[in-house]
Amino acid sequence: MADPVVAAPRMNSLIHRAVLRDLDRFGQALPQFSSGDRGRATGLGDAFDRLDRLLTHHHEGEEEHLWPLLRRQPQDAVEVGQLTEEHDRIVSALGIARTTFGRLRTSASATDAQEAGAAVDEVRAAAAAHFQHEERDLPELLAAADQEALPGAVRKLGRGQPLREALVFLQWVADGTDADQRAFLRSTIPPPVHWLSKRLAGRRYAAVTSAAWG
Ligand SMILES: [Fe+2]
Repeated sequence: MADPVVAAPRMNSLIHRAVLRDLDRFGQALPQFSSGDRGRATGLGDAFDRLDRLLTHHHEGEEEHLWPLLRRQPQDAVEVGQLTEEHDRIVSALGIARTTFGRLRTSASATDAQEAGAAVDEVRAAAAAHFQHEERDLPELLAAADQEALPGAVRKLGRGQPLREALVFLQWVADGTDADQRAFLRSTIPPPVHWLSKRLAGRRYAAVTSAAWG
């Protein structure tokens, strides 16, 4: 298996790719929503809940495990403070989006779909700006961190969620990847986890995806 610290920036980028992919799918689907399409409203709501959980877990993991190690130098502490402010912008955009998707689920109305679309646009703007910043500066911040403590912190990033959710995560992060990205995922996540993920989470993942955007 690949060294988790070496693999961390690329894994981070793959997670960011998955977030933006889902947000783009919402951005396409919501303006075209037909009033009264309850199956689609449920699918979109389920897909949003999944993205909301996975993105929230991703950022909470960074805040809890990684950021404390990256604040060693004063200038790095300022940088990490900016990353946290960007996380906060995403948290509040997600909170608004959560409310709009809840309404869409209940009403299945095109008006609520438009509102959800506007909320998704703000999540996307906040996420894209943050990801660009993080991907640019994370390698340098990691290089300046306590190298002894880093592997343990990086290993904790994907943990702390129920097994079922970890299996969903793998389906989600691998969705739409190319051969090179899939080879990377196989080099960082043990083969039995891939097998379990496909076996236990694959069908549900595909069903929600197709109900939302298929
Ligand atoms: Fe982040």
